[in-house]
Amino acid sequence: MNTTTSKSVIYPGSFDPITNGHENVIERSLDLFEKVFVAVAKISSHDKQSLFSSEERTEIIRELFLGQERVQVISFDGLLVDLAKELQTPVIIRGLRAVSDFEYEFQMAQMNRQLQNEVETIFLAPDQQYSFLSSTLVREVATLGGDVSDFVSPLVLKKMSERL
Ligand code: PNS
Repeated sequence: MNTTTSKSVIYPGSFDPITNGHENVIERSLDLFEKVFVAVAKISSHDKQSLFSSEERTEIIRELFLGQERVQVISFDGLLVDLAKELQTPVIIRGLRAVSDFEYEFQMAQMNRQLQNEVETIFLAPDQQYSFLSSTLVREVATLGGDVSDFVSPLVLKKMSERL
């Protein structure tokens, strides 16, 4: 694995559900890398009530990026650094919305580096309009009957209304 020559990047997350902020990070990643592996974690380190199974989350993202050959959606369990090795892709991308994200993201980046020294984490700032957006809030608002149509794409909105 060589970070300097990597043409691909892994964008891992729970994506429960994928929001416009996540999509924005994927689009930005496509400007920098030839290929983006969107890696849907079967289990997240966050302890949270899930809305969609990992298979459903993976399917939704696949449908969203249908026809975009440079985006490959995979689901994974186990360590992210093992996936990086398997995919021969030592670069991980994470969105950084605000300072509040920093501690958790920094911890993860450092832990991943301890586990696998070649793995490099880079952070992308999503569009400012998404700086407050999280899957957790989207789930909560939607569950309580609020309108989340500004925060997720129409496909995700449809899947969410079917589920709720
Ligand atoms: O969207 P999330 O929930 O913030 O994503 C967190 C995720 C999935 C990237 C993180 O929990 C993860 O990498 N899980 C895989 C297991 C692993 O490698 N854990 C050690 C991370 S330091």
